[in-house]
Amino acid sequence: MIGKIKADLEHRYKRHEHRLDHVLGVAETAMDLGERVGLDSRKLLIAALLHDITKYESDEYHQEKIKEHFSNSEEIFSEYSPKLWHTFSAYVYAIEEYQIDDSDILEAILHHAIGAPAMNPYAEILFLSDYIEPNRTYNSCVKVRQIANESIDKAIYEAMNDTILFHQQEGERIPKIALEARDYYQMKQEELWKN
Ligand SMILES: [Fe+2]
Ligand SMILES: [Fe+2]
Repeated sequence: MIGKIKADLEHRYKRHEHRLDHVLGVAETAMDLGERVGLDSRKLLIAALLHDITKYESDEYHQEKIKEHFSNSEEIFSEYSPKLWHTFSAYVYAIEEYQIDDSDILEAILHHAIGAPAMNPYAEILFLSDYIEPNRTYNSCVKVRQIANESIDKAIYEAMNDTILFHQQEGERIPKIALEARDYYQMKQEELWKN
């Protein structure tokens, strides 16, 4: 399956080479971090390779897939900016094109951009890897990469917080789940601190 996904990516990103570099960077980072916390590297690799697979599809494509597969599609359209719709369509793509039914992988793909409260460990690692992979050079990514060396939970919280602040500055809508996720990972760190 991995070879087939790689060929699929090369075909889909023919005119977007930097995206292939990004996806491979996410995969490499996810495998490294996953090894640290004892996750199944094949599952992580599949999630990483598929997470942005529908990135260059049209808004109409995303809308169609979302309408077909999510009963709350109207809510999704009003709450999530179109930039985030690829997270839903990539989730659908993994099911339809690769018959993936592993909820760890599917959840990781679905939540990769803004996270969710109490994500499974694969989703946590993919979310963080998407933020800190080596091709990311923003100050926040460099900072979070550093934090990830010490604490994965703290790095996840910082990445969520900076993402929210950035989108607020840009005047973009912030889905409720992003705020709930940030609260959850802040609380998780405080709990850890107390113990
Ligand atoms: Fe993405
Ligand atoms: Fe990505």
